[in-house]
Amino acid sequence: MQDKFEILSNKIAEAKLGGGEKRIEKQHQKGKLTARERIHFLLDEGSFEEIGMLVTHRCVDFGMEKQKFYGDGVVTGYGTVNGRLIYVFAQDFTVFGGSLSETHAEKICKLMDMALRNGAPIIGLNDSGGARIQEGVQSLGGYADIFYRNTRASGVIPQISAIMGPCAGGAVYSPAITDFIYMVENTSYMFITGPNVVKTVTNEDVTSEELGGAMTHATKSGVTHFTAANDIDCINQLKQLLSYIPQNCEEETPRLAYTPGKEERPALDNILPDSANVPYDMREVIGEIVDADSFYEVNKDYAENILVGFARLGGRAIGVVANNPMILAGCLDVDSSRKGGRFVRFCDSFNIPLLVLEDVPGFLPGTDQEWNGIITNGAKLLYAFCEATVPRITVITRKAYGGAYDVMNSKHIGADLNYAWPTAEIAVMGAKGASEIIFRNEIQNAEDPAAKLAEKEAEYAQKFADPYRAAFRGFVDEVIEPNQTRQKLIRAFKMLENKVDKLPKKKHGNLPL
Ligand code: COA
Repeated sequence: MQDKFEILSNKIAEAKLGGGEKRIEKQHQKGKLTARERIHFLLDEGSFEEIGMLVTHRCVDFGMEKQKFYGDGVVTGYGTVNGRLIYVFAQDFTVFGGSLSETHAEKICKLMDMALRNGAPIIGLNDSGGARIQEGVQSLGGYADIFYRNTRASGVIPQISAIMGPCAGGAVYSPAITDFIYMVENTSYMFITGPNVVKTVTNEDVTSEELGGAMTHATKSGVTHFTAANDIDCINQLKQLLSYIPQNCEEETPRLAYTPGKEERPALDNILPDSANVPYDMREVIGEIVDADSFYEVNKDYAENILVGFARLGGRAIGVVANNPMILAGCLDVDSSRKGGRFVRFCDSFNIPLLVLEDVPGFLPGTDQEWNGIITNGAKLLYAFCEATVPRITVITRKAYGGAYDVMNSKHIGADLNYAWPTAEIAVMGAKGASEIIFRNEIQNAEDPAAKLAEKEAEYAQKFADPYRAAFRGFVDEVIEPNQTRQKLIRAFKMLENKVDKLPKKKHGNLPL
């Protein structure tokens, strides 16, 4: 009997060594943790239960039958993060470079099926040389099995990917379908084809880091939602993200204990500059409104003319979408519309109420925007808001011009409550542009056209550059002093807690992709 126990413990010890001491050392030399170390730091102490530790591959080509490692390059299982159930798989680079075989994929799929059935988030820690080259089509099939499950699980359970090493070729598409991607700076990269293929096909010289490193995807493509300085930072951020989101689409957002206190925020009365053409820091506005230090920004270095992220208000998690007057005057463009639209859809999928802070002078003009499809892309943000059934509230801080006024969660497209600060300007366009069009003849025929334009501009501004016309019509529910914003929002979101709103029965909508 003792022998049998010994056999088991030997196997477990062997499995825990992955590809062996030497390869573990190599992994550490690169500044990376091993798969098991990553899981150890992610989950609550002692909570990890492994599934499929003794799985091995079935390949018999290229002498592979003589090279077998328990686990086959991926550690899978479940545990808890701050007491909440999480499924996790971590690719083990020390075993065949974490490459994906048929059995490696089967382990991931088994875990995904469990996560979906049991309604808890799944986190993938990716560190892989791609398809297991010795296997061929079985491993490609394995990727497809994962993509299929990612898509089926989308909107049912949160799916989060951390890229902590290579992720190339077909491997990128599982993370791409998941809700959020993290990339570790300097040790991870993601691309469809690597620098060598790029050189052959397009004759471009580019390094892996330039082509698909963390900063590239954080600033240029927007593919990654978060970057981390190292593995530990990445794991800590994953835990932070989980604290804002529910376990599945049937659950409410998590709440922290909250004791009501003095909610006036006088600093908000002084943030806006005297001139409507001078920018101000919308992140400061967000910081004053939400619970202290609770804003966790998503895609923070990409399309910064819109800011999106999670926060807490009175202890309850919310999603924030805000125009940022510091970049492109806060205009909506192709990238910011896609960024905002995707975030709104995530929040709506998982019952996270939405707060919109609006200061938008319109859509960004130009051939670049038109030829890159601002029409279709702008429609993504519009569609996302129209479709959202979660509680949604807008605060117009300053400009709300033109079609962008409609798009930014206006009452007309289903917002529950819209507030405006007294500084709000709700109009078809800015006073100068409007006067140039409607008073064109008068201005051209004037003795001093510049003076006439200024006069007409002032006239138009006086008539429209305020929130009151919209308030008279009920398009704005209340004009409030900025210092009251936090208090009003806490009460309003509480009032909306039991909101019930359903979309008409359909198979699924046809989002303008
Ligand atoms: N299939 C099978 N084994 C693989 C593999 C793959 N796709 N990718 C890496 N490995 C193995 C290597 O043979 C090596 O094995 P060893 O430890 O027994 O020597 C181990 O994983 C580590 O790879 P190595 O090349 O030494 O690591 P590196 O950090 O220098 O480079 C990569 C990492 C990913 C850049 C490099 O391994 C690579 O280019 N792999 C192939 C990528 C690819 O074309 N994938 C298939 C298409 S998606």
